Amino acid sequence: MKNYIKTYLQLVCIGLLLVSCNQTDEKKLAINTVNTNLNTTIESKVDSLLAIMTLEEKIGQMNQYNGFWDVTGPVPENGDAAKKYDDLRKGLVGSMLNVRGVKDVRAVQKIAVEETRLGIPLIIGFDVIHGYKTISPIPLAESASWDLEAIKKSAEVAAEEAAAAGINWTFAPMVDISRDARWGRVMEGSGEDTYLSSKIAVARVKGFQGEDLSAHNTIAACAKHFAGYGFAESGRDYNTVDVGTSTLYNTIFPPFQAANEAGVRTFMNSFNELNGVPATGNKYLQREILKHQWGFSGFVVSDWGSIAEMIAHGHAKDGTHATELAVNAGSDMDMESNLYVNELVTLVKEGKVDEQLITDAARRILRVKFELGLFDDPYKYCNEEREQSVTGSKEIQDAVLDMAKKSIVLLKNENNVLPLKKEGQKIAVIGALANDKTSPLGSWRIGADDGTAVSVLEGLKAYSGNQITYAKGADLVYGQTVFARELDINVSDKSGFTEAKQVAKQADVVIMVLGEHGFQSGEGRSRADIDLPGVQQELLEEVYKVNKNIVLVLNNGRPLSINWADEHIPAIVEAWHLGTQSGNAIAQVLYGDYNPSGKLPMTFPRSVGQLPLYYNSKSTGRPNMPSPGEVFWSHYTDVSNTPLYPFGYGLSYTTFNYTNLKVNVVSNNTVEVSVKLTNTGKLKGKEVVQLYMQDLFASVTRPVKELKGFELVELNPNESKTINFTLSKNELGFYSNEGKFLLEPGDFKVYVGGSSNTTLEAKFTLE
Ligand code: BGC
Repeated sequence: MKNYIKTYLQLVCIGLLLVSCNQTDEKKLAINTVNTNLNTTIESKVDSLLAIMTLEEKIGQMNQYNGFWDVTGPVPENGDAAKKYDDLRKGLVGSMLNVRGVKDVRAVQKIAVEETRLGIPLIIGFDVIHGYKTISPIPLAESASWDLEAIKKSAEVAAEEAAAAGINWTFAPMVDISRDARWGRVMEGSGEDTYLSSKIAVARVKGFQGEDLSAHNTIAACAKHFAGYGFAESGRDYNTVDVGTSTLYNTIFPPFQAANEAGVRTFMNSFNELNGVPATGNKYLQREILKHQWGFSGFVVSDWGSIAEMIAHGHAKDGTHATELAVNAGSDMDMESNLYVNELVTLVKEGKVDEQLITDAARRILRVKFELGLFDDPYKYCNEEREQSVTGSKEIQDAVLDMAKKSIVLLKNENNVLPLKKEGQKIAVIGALANDKTSPLGSWRIGADDGTAVSVLEGLKAYSGNQITYAKGADLVYGQTVFARELDINVSDKSGFTEAKQVAKQADVVIMVLGEHGFQSGEGRSRADIDLPGVQQELLEEVYKVNKNIVLVLNNGRPLSINWADEHIPAIVEAWHLGTQSGNAIAQVLYGDYNPSGKLPMTFPRSVGQLPLYYNSKSTGRPNMPSPGEVFWSHYTDVSNTPLYPFGYGLSYTTFNYTNLKVNVVSNNTVEVSVKLTNTGKLKGKEVVQLYMQDLFASVTRPVKELKGFELVELNPNESKTINFTLSKNELGFYSNEGKFLLEPGDFKVYVGGSSNTTLEAKFTLE
């Protein structure tokens, strides 16, 4: 008989006894969750299981190892791999990451289930960030759609494909707010705005987890990185974070809180220190805010090696000390520091860590395993036939194509250069990225194979009416820290310019695909310069000399400063890294088979020196130039304060008009706002109607504008629609510096329009 079945029978026998146990111990109450929505059947099973587990076995649940050997090959005999393998057999491993594919997952699960004393199944984690094998747009791009249904669907199909490959837990969504385009991981988040990010966090959590976590096609989600990671000083990854409580409560926490309210089952802590204490060892974050105030009932996993990194931070004396700090602070699972499994037993025996904290951590982890249905059938995610039929299925390809089209933002379209004519045109396509089948997959797509994206060139060639000529022009420059194999590219080689100019000269339209390689953003890929990398800017200017009719298609994982292009190039399309179907999505937008409706989720600066630059900034005491030539006001002497493209900005092939803005104060915590939207152009199109609010004076100063509502509206030409919003307590109030939610009387403004720089405004007063 399988061990896990043995365990089950034991559980049934002692379950009833334990359910009736009175847990009055004060410490236990303190560490226990305040969540009241727990499934009592699961809770009693968890209690029963904990009752028969040794201290070592509970600690084992808190240990996560990376896929460490050829899991279907011979048993490793020496070194780290042998030790890890041995731990797995002893029941000292609760989770593994980066083991994927039914065959491999089954192999490790089999050891956990059939060779350990209790047969507790592993939870298998993987970074399913924007798709597993079939890749959807990078999260920042998806956020540009403002389409919550599409984003949810994208997470849903990613979960389906990953679950079919044996995975049952993703380390996503990343809900870190960031205002600094230098930070490489902005590609993985939802941009700079808390309100939009909170809505997207909910959509992603619901998409991954579905209605039923135990279904074979849903996986547990993970809100990360708790907290403050996106505020790394000067945008340098892993750097110090020092933010005040107002920013913490009003800007950083809300998307995490929204994810928790949506039922996210895990959180990941963070590499950064927050105001002097590493997030991983931060009791205030994990125990006080997350587990106590928010009643989070799932578990917290450390970031990769982040427990051990507390030594380098200068917070822990050594590994033992780091372990003590992390557990006491509420980090339940150790990802790859290999410390819990080696240090915790002694720490408990010495009284430095209370055993109840271990029990609580194991309880949280087991709870999620039960919820995933892993105890009912540890191989439920391991079905070869399903893996075969689901991977890359039509449904998944359709969903990522749909998402890719919705993610594109039209930044400029002078003289209606776009959409392109479908016939009789000579089109020159220029740029290494145009012919790249790997870069569009973007960063964080470990499950996908290189070369599996549809390139722009392929997408364009699917339209047969025009004559297409391609020239590379220049190679793409990679950051110094990108994979070694790419470093031998000659970054300043301009020998391809001549050919590029030749093909451009003969063309009616030139499409230039420029920007960043997929691995130029992401973890560890911060940039101090956010212009077009390498000689691409020069290439653009050279080609412009021979043909001004250029459509610039940008591929990038972060906002770029493209002032020259904005001034000279008639059409600019922000196409990010759009995933597997990238080229098809771009071609359909360029040819007008899809009318773009994306809006920027992050401000595009004019200069890197403006960073951090974000629309919902504070006013300062000297916001405007008092008189011409006056120096003493808040500004730069060499660049304006305004962005190149503001948050929320994006064009369409049609045009929209806003009129009839009305505000009705129903009560002190309910304000209704309405506006009439009209499609004034010639094509059917979608518009993201955005509502911003300003609290004109408050006990803690409020931003000049804050997004408080949005709606995606589709209209036919000449069609109008009245859009209604309700501002309730959550939108009208804010957090004090003590973390108290306040609703203060006073004067407010609302702004409604198609971008954060809208000037259509109305006032209201709360008594
Ligand atoms: C990242 C996490 C990721 C983890 C596992 C870390 O380097 O910061 O976001 O989930 O690795 O791959």
